[in-house]
Amino acid sequence: MSRFDGKVVLISGGARGMGESHSRAIVAEGGKVVITDVLDAEGQTLADELGESAVYAHLDVTNEEEWLAAVKLAVDTFGGLNVLINNAGIANFGTLDTYTAKDWSLIIGINLTGAFLGIKSAAPELVKNETSSIVNISSTAGMQGFAALHGYTASKFGLRGLTKSVAMELGHQGVRVNSVHPGNIRTPMTDGLEIDDSSTPIPRLGEPEEVTKMVLFLASEDASYSTGSEFIIDGGVLAGDGAVN
Ligand SMILES: NC(=O)c1ccc[n+]([C@@H]2O[C@H](COP(=O)([O-])OP(=O)(O)OC[C@H]3O[C@@H](n4cnc5c(N)ncnc54)[C@H](O)[C@@H]3O)[C@@H](O)[C@H]2O)c1
Repeated sequence: MSRFDGKVVLISGGARGMGESHSRAIVAEGGKVVITDVLDAEGQTLADELGESAVYAHLDVTNEEEWLAAVKLAVDTFGGLNVLINNAGIANFGTLDTYTAKDWSLIIGINLTGAFLGIKSAAPELVKNETSSIVNISSTAGMQGFAALHGYTASKFGLRGLTKSVAMELGHQGVRVNSVHPGNIRTPMTDGLEIDDSSTPIPRLGEPEEVTKMVLFLASEDASYSTGSEFIIDGGVLAGDGAVN
């Protein structure tokens, strides 16, 4: 018996990067996955590769109708919905003099409002199960500030807060809600960025598969007593500065 036998998972931004890794692992552990993204070619190829346990749907997380359609697809294809992973996200950069209101609205719309719409759309199905789980992918930028990363930091702090308000609202209906806070992980999002990890206790980028282990823990019954909490996976970035060489 695998951890995700009989479980149906809906993931946003599942076509590449960490979302791809989570999608692969869910199927490997016996689950069904509805992979959604705006990268239709990549998402469809991944779903085809994973076979009958996966289906792909186009879902721009800022679009509530597309969220509702993805939830319906999960129910129609696999018979229900047990887990929502709010993984889709973008990063944009700029100091106060260059960062525009448009930059701000774009990232808040995707990283924060997108997750809210996902929770709102999935909740009516999630509460039908004895237990369900929502995993919100925040960031170390949801725990501390980063210069020139205003919208990203605000969206990831916001997602951490939303995690707690929803945990309070849905806990008695069997839905656990937690946030995951990765540090610098090797994905297309960090590709080409200059990242200095010399003062970090584990001085390297994390791999998507390392984050997947934490996400699947929270998505599964292994985390049956955890809700409304933050789970950090950052190589020790938030532990302090100046690791001894
Ligand atoms: N890579 C890191 O170092 C890091 C660190 C902390 C948190 N995160 C978070 O992890 C999550 C996954 O990021 P990743 O590193 O795998 O990056 P990624 O860019 O590879 O993946 C993000 C996915 O989200 C999708 N996406 C973007 N806008 C979308 C929209 N409007 N609707 C639906 N999907 C959309 C992209 O197409 C992509 O497939 C993000 O929320 C990101 O903020 C990443």
